Amino acid sequence: MEVRVFPDAYGAALYTATLVETTIRQLSSPVLGLATGGTMIPVYQHLVQFHRRGLRFEHVTTINLDEYIGLEPTDRHSYHAFMREHFFDHVDLPLDCRYIPSGATCDLTAACQAYDEILRAHPIDLQLLGIGVNGHIGFNEPADHLKPHTHVVELTEDTIRQNARFFDAEERVPTRAITMGLQSILFAKRIVLLAVGASKAQAVREAIIGDIRTTVPASLLQLHPQVTFVLDEAAAQQLP
Ligand code: PGA
Repeated sequence: MEVRVFPDAYGAALYTATLVETTIRQLSSPVLGLATGGTMIPVYQHLVQFHRRGLRFEHVTTINLDEYIGLEPTDRHSYHAFMREHFFDHVDLPLDCRYIPSGATCDLTAACQAYDEILRAHPIDLQLLGIGVNGHIGFNEPADHLKPHTHVVELTEDTIRQNARFFDAEERVPTRAITMGLQSILFAKRIVLLAVGASKAQAVREAIIGDIRTTVPASLLQLHPQVTFVLDEAAAQQLP
């Protein structure tokens, strides 16, 4: 596992975007696993800037980690809307090469199976991850058992509280989500986890030097041969 620490969040996001750019330039049809959340917004801002200076996405496929259940893709709080606002609407990524789980369907089992088919057909070259203050990755929340494949998850109170800042009120945060599973995440050829800010320091410490355990889902990344943790100094402050 590689750990890169930058003086501030700006440098960490820029480095992450540069790793994405390198993957896009190196491969003829790269598949990117994408994440949402506040941490990722500056990464997408950099990628949009790179696009304005010539980086093309026309040969790229993107597969997002997760989506809230019960929100239509048109809902401004959905991750579909997040991706359009921060990334898709500003780059030349083909419409039929952007995948996000469907959280607005009545047949969630079919939606999970369909997403696993997409993942099988498009092995991920570079997976971007954030981390929850509780150590979650995607919406794989701390639990006694973790699911390997795409599944429906009940969000923890921690996560609902954290994500309330994107909604008008905590009661508006959906309580369930559909997320890629741990096996699908660990199947990515390379994983880059970006974490910034002191609120993430404990989760980062447990993920990197703690025991591997399902109550800290990010600790399973220690099993992957090519993981880079990209941190600012605040997120790295509890590392030795
Ligand atoms: P954040 O979310 O970037 O909004 O902190 C990260 C996550 O929960 O994975």
